[in-house]
Amino acid sequence: MPHPEAQRWDERYQRERDFWMERKPRQLLTAYAHLLPAGGRALDAACGVAINALFLAQRGLRAFALDISEYALRLAKQRASNIGLPLEAAVIDLSNPWLPAAHFEVIVNFHFLERGTIPVYRQALKPGGLIFFDTFSKRGEQNDIPVYYLDPGELIGWFHDFEIIHYTENNLDPSENHSERGLAQLIARKP
Ligand SMILES: C[S@@+](CC[C@H](N)C(=O)[O-])C[C@H]1O[C@@H](n2cnc3c(N)ncnc32)[C@H](O)[C@@H]1O
Repeated sequence: MPHPEAQRWDERYQRERDFWMERKPRQLLTAYAHLLPAGGRALDAACGVAINALFLAQRGLRAFALDISEYALRLAKQRASNIGLPLEAAVIDLSNPWLPAAHFEVIVNFHFLERGTIPVYRQALKPGGLIFFDTFSKRGEQNDIPVYYLDPGELIGWFHDFEIIHYTENNLDPSENHSERGLAQLIARKP
């Protein structure tokens, strides 16, 4: 049975195809690209059209792109083949995921929050592996669906025993005009 949100996201990617396809890799990833290893496996979780996975593939990592939107993954595969980059893509529901233990050198989770994935990311990273996390946080009481927003201090709490390389929270996303939501960003290394 398809995920209840999958159709909504498929329709959104069809409607907003150009918007998503023209996006650049997230700034958190490009600004800290010097931290990336030269090879190994990288997971782009809830990847959408997988712009970030393709950036990782370009940097020499074997990129795995997971999402519930089959349509977005089709666009991602098309782009990968057009530019001649390898990309492994699969339709997966990350609200109830299983990932192999100690498998990835890098995991990126951008603009997506399913709290159940966080312990799974922690165990799926290899020792020394990096997590890049950038998603919405609560700034006020008006958030439409509060479960999709991090609480203050929550993200760093999930990774308290990792080496924290970068952490900010409550910044406004410069590309948006929502004053009721901020962004929390974290880069951390598994011990
Ligand atoms: C705001 S988009 C972010 C896409 C991409 N990470 C980025 O930074 O541009 C959120 C993505 O989460 C995906 N998604 C939503 N619920 C999901 C779930 N339960 N499992 C996997 N992906 C999911 C959607 O299909 C969508 O592609």
